[in-house]
Amino acid sequence: MGFPEGFVFGSATASYQIEGAVDEDGRRPSVWDVFSRTPGKTVDGDTGDVADDHYHRWEADLDLMRSLGLHAYRFSVAWPRVVPEGRGAVNRKGLDFYSRLVDGLLERGITPVATLYHWDLPQVLEDEGGWRERSTAEAFAAYAGAVAETLGDRIDTWTTLNEPWCAAFLGYGAGVHAPGATDPVAALRAAHHLNLAHGLAAQAIRAQLPDAKLSVTLNLHVFRPEGPTGPEAARRLDAVGNRIWLGPMLEGAYPADLLEDTAHLTDWSFVQDGDLEAIHQPIDVLGVNYYSTSRVRLHDEPVEHAPSPWSGADVVEVLPPEGPLTDMGWNIDPAGLTDLLVSLHERYPDLPLMVTENGAAFPDVVEDGAVHDDARIDYLRRHFAAAQDAIEAGVDLRGYFVWSLMDNFEWALGYSKRFGIVWVDYATQERIPKDSARWYADVIRTGDL
Ligand code: FCB
Repeated sequence: MGFPEGFVFGSATASYQIEGAVDEDGRRPSVWDVFSRTPGKTVDGDTGDVADDHYHRWEADLDLMRSLGLHAYRFSVAWPRVVPEGRGAVNRKGLDFYSRLVDGLLERGITPVATLYHWDLPQVLEDEGGWRERSTAEAFAAYAGAVAETLGDRIDTWTTLNEPWCAAFLGYGAGVHAPGATDPVAALRAAHHLNLAHGLAAQAIRAQLPDAKLSVTLNLHVFRPEGPTGPEAARRLDAVGNRIWLGPMLEGAYPADLLEDTAHLTDWSFVQDGDLEAIHQPIDVLGVNYYSTSRVRLHDEPVEHAPSPWSGADVVEVLPPEGPLTDMGWNIDPAGLTDLLVSLHERYPDLPLMVTENGAAFPDVVEDGAVHDDARIDYLRRHFAAAQDAIEAGVDLRGYFVWSLMDNFEWALGYSKRFGIVWVDYATQERIPKDSARWYADVIRTGDL
């Protein structure tokens, strides 16, 4: 069986990972500029200062997308370019970059799918507490409204946030992402304010564009329970990893078990009257990012409380993944994608789904001007097939975006991990489509895996 009529084949990137030009046209630092320049925070001290230099090479990059036949391109807008002080004045030059980009996509017949927040919070807002504070959610809504006003009906799908779990729990809990805090309560506060940011931004966009297609992208975790304590371990991480977003955004409430599991940390009094109504906005499509699964069970004995991305769930043990692994050390479990899509569809039968990220890092090499990345092709083929299985099971899956269009700044891992279907030579900025790019172009043309 093939893909349904109108199925969208796309590819994704994010502003800080590809743009570079961090000091240009009025952009001010984001938390990732500050974090990546802090010694010891990223592999080899890598920063996004230059990255793929996409800010200057965007036209050639759009031509490359067209040559692959991409139907859609998922990119993110950098808040610190558009509202450099976090709130207040809009920087016309920053917004113009995205305006040109969107026009360039449309001229090439590529559908623009915009994400408003892919982790580059203006540092000035972090200096006032960042996502710990509700004022950041309010500032985000104002910024979202300004982007909607300018890019308006040229954008097909508006995604408020990318993977708020990473922003909250890797950024404020585990400390491995910007801003690098290690406080389980700050992470929960951040989660709530990100939820609120989603709801307020959705309203701000709708106010400008009543017909806007609204979305949010979540990295929903798939747990593989191990042994007799596995189900309880999975329930706990599902609460603080998945339902902490799905509950308020899609059902208008935080799950009762999440509040219980975290009661020793906080009374959640940062949730104010009216917040849950504000967060619970209708969305048109849910974006799902999927890479791998996690084996979980409960610890036999109490453990040392190390910085953790799982606030309040120290009793849970996440077991080392079983191979084969990608270059990230992530396991390869395509059935996890089917399971995730099917379970979401069962829970929210009327909500269309979109895979907004899937892909893999492998240690690629250039040989005679080519990159033979068979392992990536195999990974992608099996995950596309897993998506087909979900469609066959009745899931309303609208499209699939490969992460990533090109190699880029992989956050704390810098340039050491290559996720692209296009190779980037960081010394010359030359782009070389890998074999996976050619394979993907064929899939898009023929619908055959
Ligand atoms: C996701 C991020 C994306 C990229 C991939 C590998 O968590 O959204 O920016 O880093 O992982």
